Amino acid sequence: MNIPDQSALRSFAGREALRVEAAMRADLAEALAGCDPLLVEVIDYGLFGGGKRIRPLLAILAARLCGAADPALYTLAGAFEYLHVATLIHDDVIDQARARRGREALCRKYGTAPAILAGDWLHARSLYLVGRCAGSEGLAVFCRATTGMVDGEFLQLRHVADWALTEAEYFAIIERKTALLIASTCEIGAIFAGAAAEQRRALADYGNRLGTAFQVIDDLLDYQGDAGNTGKQVGIDFREGKLTLPLLRALAVADDSERAAIASLFAGDRRVESSLERVCRFIDAHRGFGAARQTAVQLADEAVAALAPFAGREDKESLAMLHALAGYVLARNK
Ligand code: IPE
Ligand code: IPE
Ligand code: MG
Ligand code: MG
Repeated sequence: MNIPDQSALRSFAGREALRVEAAMRADLAEALAGCDPLLVEVIDYGLFGGGKRIRPLLAILAARLCGAADPALYTLAGAFEYLHVATLIHDDVIDQARARRGREALCRKYGTAPAILAGDWLHARSLYLVGRCAGSEGLAVFCRATTGMVDGEFLQLRHVADWALTEAEYFAIIERKTALLIASTCEIGAIFAGAAAEQRRALADYGNRLGTAFQVIDDLLDYQGDAGNTGKQVGIDFREGKLTLPLLRALAVADDSERAAIASLFAGDRRVESSLERVCRFIDAHRGFGAARQTAVQLADEAVAALAPFAGREDKESLAMLHALAGYVLARNK
């Protein structure tokens, strides 16, 4: 794909993120009034001071593309950030992560109990807001996404340290744990705008492909990224026994003895720094990084193609931003 101009997207996204943050602050002032001060502090720490705000942006763009202009859109967009942050907080408990968004992970700073409870609070509030803004139809899509994410996490747990993981299983995991929520933000944006079924389907399809590409790139950044940019540790996936696409692709073209050597590193103590370095060199030598990136490019192309039904729409800006976002997902380094 030709990566579209990113500067217009950057300024648009920056402006919209400020509006979403204002809507979240207004909602929290109401929802947390009179609550325990530690709860207020922990929610503030989780939500503010970092994050790309991609899911709210997607909800806004999808709704605008379908003709919505109601300011309640920002409250709805914030609800997706609540749910996303709830999953990040819980994910960091599960993955025993030390850093998130360039700071200490919430579970490290405040402990596991406040982390679990803050995630629960954000999840509950997101359900309330989606129901209020997008009705029972929107809530049904949202609940399908959130229950599906949990299923994806269980599937991932089942395959921890599973050397036999197939590519089909890898995609089943990432579609559930990441793409489902991203697809639901797009579809619910369309529902909020009262869009026709065909438009809803097109936006859900866009979100599904984009979300899958997003996680493939996240998995690449876990090997190749710089913690200073991503704001989280690198090399966690291998250490935690998660086989991801770059390694799967390299293994697919390696010979038996090379595979056996990597298998023994995978079965051994994966925290040893030299094991990760060897695995990185192996992936690189077998073009696993390039092959995984190629798949992300193809998925991003498919995402853009799913928007074809909107080609003649008047709102050219939202369509152009959704195209540019597909490029951003590929080019991002954080
Ligand atoms: C991280 O999502 C979790 C994944 C699904 C890969 P983001 O990369 O969107 O995280 P923030 O919101 O910018 O911190
Ligand atoms: C995505 O998987 C997790 C969620 C859907 C919350 P990761 O475990 O790879 O996410 P990061 O890398 O910690 O952000
Ligand atoms: Mg994680
Ligand atoms: Mg990751």
